[in-house]
Amino acid sequence: MNQTVINEAAAFIKENLTKTPEIGLILGSGLGVLADKIDNPITFSYKDIPHFPESTVSGHKGQLVVGMLEGKQVIAMQGRFHYYEGYSMQQVTFPVRVMKDLGIDSIIVTNAAGGINKTYNPGDLMIINDHINNMGDNPLIGPNNDELGDRFPDMSQVYDKTYMQHAKDCAEKLELSVQNGVYVGNTGPTYETPAEINMLRTLGGDAVGMSTVPEVIVAGHAGLRVLGISCISNMAAGILDQPLTHNEVIETTEKVREDFLQFIKEIIRTLPN
Ligand code: 6GU
Repeated sequence: MNQTVINEAAAFIKENLTKTPEIGLILGSGLGVLADKIDNPITFSYKDIPHFPESTVSGHKGQLVVGMLEGKQVIAMQGRFHYYEGYSMQQVTFPVRVMKDLGIDSIIVTNAAGGINKTYNPGDLMIINDHINNMGDNPLIGPNNDELGDRFPDMSQVYDKTYMQHAKDCAEKLELSVQNGVYVGNTGPTYETPAEINMLRTLGGDAVGMSTVPEVIVAGHAGLRVLGISCISNMAAGILDQPLTHNEVIETTEKVREDFLQFIKEIIRTLPN
């Protein structure tokens, strides 16, 4: 990953900021509304930021929103880049590098995911306690920039234990039932077959989606503290006797939107050091 390119994107954003963001937010399908809650927002359309790719999927806005949320300076991605759109792993994770360069030390990564664990229900929130990279690619392939991170980064503690416990405490306080599980990152754009979902369950997956893993790998490489939250938008293939649709994903995330917003806001408001 080329430092100059990161610096150019970050410099463009920095020019328009007076305060340093502390927390990065990546908002998944249907969850971008959180960025609308940011006070005195400064927005940067992806298409205006040097070297940023442009977002294509519906339900995503494609902008960075910077400002105050629950007393903290945040920088939110309203819409992310997906591998299935044809972007390289480096493009998908470029915003994480830029947000790190802008000064964040923590990142909250969210997504809509299918439930693999049969005890889950659509509308559940899940704290990601680990992931399985099932994408057959890795954003760190290629020459390592030692300035950015280690050649062989540890992934055993990439999801910050303190943050996971904090999220659990926040859920209890708000009386939200929250799950704790393993997120499997698949490339998409197809949803899985029932046989693939059975395989992923056998492998230890609890939820499956088409994002998050690349960004979390790069965040780990960059030394950021990571919290991952999935919104279980539907049950994965073969669990219920019905086909999967993107509409269902959007509809469920709309239904749990309020819970999700309260949850993330409380997490941010009381985020421990
Ligand atoms: Cl069932 N699979 C994948 N790969 N992504 C999803 C999903 C399922 N539900 C929401 N996103």
